[in-house]
Amino acid sequence: MILKLLEGGKTAYTPVWFMRQAGRYMKEYRDLKEKHSFLEMCKTPELAAEVTLQPLKKINFDAAIMFSDILIPAEKMGQKLVYAPGPVLSPPVNNMEEVERLKVPSRDEYGFTKELIKKVLAGLPPGKDLIGFAGAPLTMLAYMMEGKSKTDFSTVKKAAGTEFFSAAIKKVSSAIIEYSAAQAEAGIKVFQLFDTWAGILEPAQFQKHVMPYLQETITGIKASGMKIIYFFKDGARMADTVKNLTGVDAFSVDSSDTLDSFDKKFGKKFILQGNLAPKILLADRETIKKEIDKVLKSAAGLKGHIFNLGHGVLPATPEDNVKFTVDYIHGVKK
Ligand code: CP3
Repeated sequence: MILKLLEGGKTAYTPVWFMRQAGRYMKEYRDLKEKHSFLEMCKTPELAAEVTLQPLKKINFDAAIMFSDILIPAEKMGQKLVYAPGPVLSPPVNNMEEVERLKVPSRDEYGFTKELIKKVLAGLPPGKDLIGFAGAPLTMLAYMMEGKSKTDFSTVKKAAGTEFFSAAIKKVSSAIIEYSAAQAEAGIKVFQLFDTWAGILEPAQFQKHVMPYLQETITGIKASGMKIIYFFKDGARMADTVKNLTGVDAFSVDSSDTLDSFDKKFGKKFILQGNLAPKILLADRETIKKEIDKVLKSAAGLKGHIFNLGHGVLPATPEDNVKFTVDYIHGVKK
């Protein structure tokens, strides 16, 4: 139904899926993680396919998102990757020598990703979509340069605009395009590009030092024929800049503003995805209903709406609340 909406079709109710819908809030995931490391789960197609489909067995999501991580291509590019539990990448990329050492892995090097996608597509209930993904160039490079996830991003902020930053983001962009092509070859039709750290640079810096590479990435992904959802955080501040991207089919927005106000900023031209604040799912049922109603009301005048959270499901979220939320959204007639 999500593909149908992105192709311009109408749907009877608002389709819904959640970022991090597979993960620690689910008992089945925690049980499997007792036996396997996160990276092992990502790289073993049988396990990754099982985790991808776990949420859909219990909860009526309209899409699955393939189980993987945005940093898988960084490892293929030549960095060492461990999760402790946040990602740690070494050595960090912060000079031209390190950039030159990075490889651009071809689409043929992602055999396990292709196998995962084929397995999930074979087991996906009818009417559901499978979403593929990658990190956007700045977000991937931010981890590759800082080497860890708990950071103030001072290295990236200082480097933006330097020769080695531009060379690095160009290489990362090429790697993302190859990774996306592998996913398209295996059957992905809806692709989300995650730009969690879009807001670490000032909009003017982002415009100058990131936008050309981000646009090149989107154009490259588009060449494989997939529909593209671009997720970015710090939405209220960054919308005016990213709205100029071409080739994006839907923008996934965070909870920093209402959907109708994002819609005005985007000039009413795009399907929007979002944007219930993840912490609402920790609240009582009445609060959850009230907040869902607010999001749906705010979405009433949009070109199209895919329900999602403003960011990923929090690990402490009760599973029952996720199920309740999805069923409630489906019950509201458009
Ligand atoms: O269900 C899904 O959304 C699909 C799988 C998925 C994961 N990561 C699994 C994961 C997706 C789409 C991602 C994207 C991702 N990874 C992003 C962009 C979206 C976002 O959340 O902002 C980012 C920034 C990463 C990098 C990353 N991976 C971080 C910072 C962490 C640690 C933080 C955390 O949540 O613990 C990870 C690990 C990770 N990726 C987990 C999962 C389920 C947790 C691993 C565990 O079980 O310990």
